[in-house]
Amino acid sequence: DTPALADRFGREATDLRLSLTDFCNLRCTYCMPESGMVFLKKDQLLSVEEIVRLVRIGVERLGIQQVRFTGGEPLTRPDLEEIISGVASLERRPDISLTTNAIGLDHRAERLREAGLDRINVSLDSVVSETFERLTRRPLLHRVLAGIDGARAAGLDPIKVNAVLMPGINDHELPDLLDWCLERDLQLRVIEQMPLDADHRWERSTMITAGDVHEMLAPRYALAPVAEPRDGAPAELYEVSDRATGLHRGRVGIIASVTRPFCADCRRTRLTAEGRVRTCLFSREETDLRTALRSGADDEAIADIWRAAQWGKKAGHGMDRADFVQPERPMSAIGG
Ligand code: GTP
Ligand code: 5AD
Ligand code: SF4
Repeated sequence: DTPALADRFGREATDLRLSLTDFCNLRCTYCMPESGMVFLKKDQLLSVEEIVRLVRIGVERLGIQQVRFTGGEPLTRPDLEEIISGVASLERRPDISLTTNAIGLDHRAERLREAGLDRINVSLDSVVSETFERLTRRPLLHRVLAGIDGARAAGLDPIKVNAVLMPGINDHELPDLLDWCLERDLQLRVIEQMPLDADHRWERSTMITAGDVHEMLAPRYALAPVAEPRDGAPAELYEVSDRATGLHRGRVGIIASVTRPFCADCRRTRLTAEGRVRTCLFSREETDLRTALRSGADDEAIADIWRAAQWGKKAGHGMDRADFVQPERPMSAIGG
């Protein structure tokens, strides 16, 4: 049996979130500064071979079962197909998913699925062009929509849509956004904004909470909790039906990381785009694996560094503690 990637609070990490780049072609206000950042250079990013090797070490030696590629925007890596087929060819193949803004996906979805991609989650906070542009600072809604269509045409299923609600910007659109997703058989997940924005503007008092989401949806929809076990997943799922007709429409998820933290059941370990273990979005430290990779360390030595790092994982994000400090790096640099 594989020894688990355990921490001192009794949790075992089976989900790896691996950031492929800190670069993105959007500038979402909750994730990156308007000016962009000093992005990592190509030789600072992990190569295809390094990524596949780290995932192999994860599945063979540490009990990793699921890999999610994030960023920045993972589609900005031209070698994403190679990375996915490398991971899909591993003897103990993990579940392979992607969190993406979907720009350019229309041209690549088919090849990505053939390479072994199992599932995608698309970040999309508004289907109204003006709102999309206010949120992302780029007029590219049509490209995201084309990407979603392409993913569906390629047979990627399910497709989930992640929407972060920003007070006064897209929150009033929520019932319509849900309707739009239900019409297209997309599973919307409404996300509480976490303090990971570059400008440090996040405020607990103005954040749209899961409670607010229920209130905003109630006039139009009836929500009933899904009976299946949640199994460590961040989203609480609900069956949705129209209040007026009683018709069942599909499901919606609510990700209440702030007001209903799921840290006690967390199964995550992360790697940043430059190959550092980050055990939590809100870690104060990262542990470099790239130096070991590039200096000839063997698999077990790398697994050992990773295990030691995971052992230091905090109990939770600690947002409610008086000594909580927002991480220095924004979401785009940590890996979403
Ligand atoms: P699946 O449930 O497998 O579809 O994926 P996921 O929901 O874990 O991943 P996704 O990348 O779609 O992330 C959705 C949302 O979950 C993000 O927008 C975050 O708000 C939140 N999230 C992602 N990673 C973490 C994490 O490590 N901790 C916390 N608290 N929230 C996270
Ligand atoms: N709070 C919550 N979710 C965020 N995301 C990016 N920044 C934040 C934040 N500050 C989401 C994106 C993407 C997912 C990986 O993380 O919408 O879907
Ligand atoms: Fe896990 Fe940290 Fe996310 Fe909590 S905030 S769910 S401990 S990664």
